[in-house]
Amino acid sequence: MLRIEGMNTHYGASHVLQGVDLDMPQGRISAVLGRNGVGKTTMVKTIMGLVALSAGRVAIGDTDITGWPPHLVARAGVAYVPEGRLIFPDLTVIENIKVGEREARNGRGRKWPLPRLLELFPSLRERSANRGSQLSGGEQQMLAIARALVSDPKVMLLDEPSQGLAPLVVRELARVIQLLRDEGVTILLVEQNMKLAEAVADELHIMVKGRMVYSATPAVFRAEEDQIRARFLTV
Ligand SMILES: Nc1ncnc2c1ncn2[C@@H]1O[C@H](COP(=O)(O)OP(=O)(O)OP(=O)(O)O)[C@@H](O)[C@H]1O
Ligand SMILES: [Mg+2]
Repeated sequence: MLRIEGMNTHYGASHVLQGVDLDMPQGRISAVLGRNGVGKTTMVKTIMGLVALSAGRVAIGDTDITGWPPHLVARAGVAYVPEGRLIFPDLTVIENIKVGEREARNGRGRKWPLPRLLELFPSLRERSANRGSQLSGGEQQMLAIARALVSDPKVMLLDEPSQGLAPLVVRELARVIQLLRDEGVTILLVEQNMKLAEAVADELHIMVKGRMVYSATPAVFRAEEDQIRARFLTV
């Protein structure tokens, strides 16, 4: 569904992505793990067209979206939930979701109407009149996902959604991510939280210095975990 081939990205003279290949099957959760600074966020931003690629190719299904600007990538069905969530602190929960609706005026977006979103995220329903700044980290994360769903995405890119969340909230997040997958959304999950990635992902990938160096199912990964962790993940 989402295919990346030979993705190269530079920041000035700094060559961050050095030929990333990733093939994400439709309706599956693909997790990308990797130490700080290896280029995970850069990969996600390059997919979205927020950072220019210097070589390589990105496709959604049969559509080549290489070099497309962010609004067209979004229109092609890709939603992005950035690291740090970036919800609007002064808008209420409902208003934050409506911002997503405004951005989604393109014929898509009927699959996740507001009542359905509030059913999916009970904590948001209770807090629907609260401002973004009054929400807990977990509620903000759910709101960021809810807002991204409004556009009825085919592919959702989640950049470290569990960051700073308590274990109980991470479990709720895992439930939501799996539910979205079961609804047919193809998910790219960038995570430092290996437990979450192992628990929900259908495929695990590890990035080192701007390249994918390892791919496996969680079951295979678990069998080799200590070795792989020491080689590619622990600092
Ligand atoms: N806008 C930028 N300009 C210049 N260099 C950048 C920029 N953004 C990121 N970098 C550098 O690119 C490299 C990859 O950063 P990136 O944020 O993609 O890593 P990451 O894997 O997401 O890390 P983390 O796990 O800490 O989120 C780092 O060395 C970072 O310092
Ligand atoms: Mg990052």
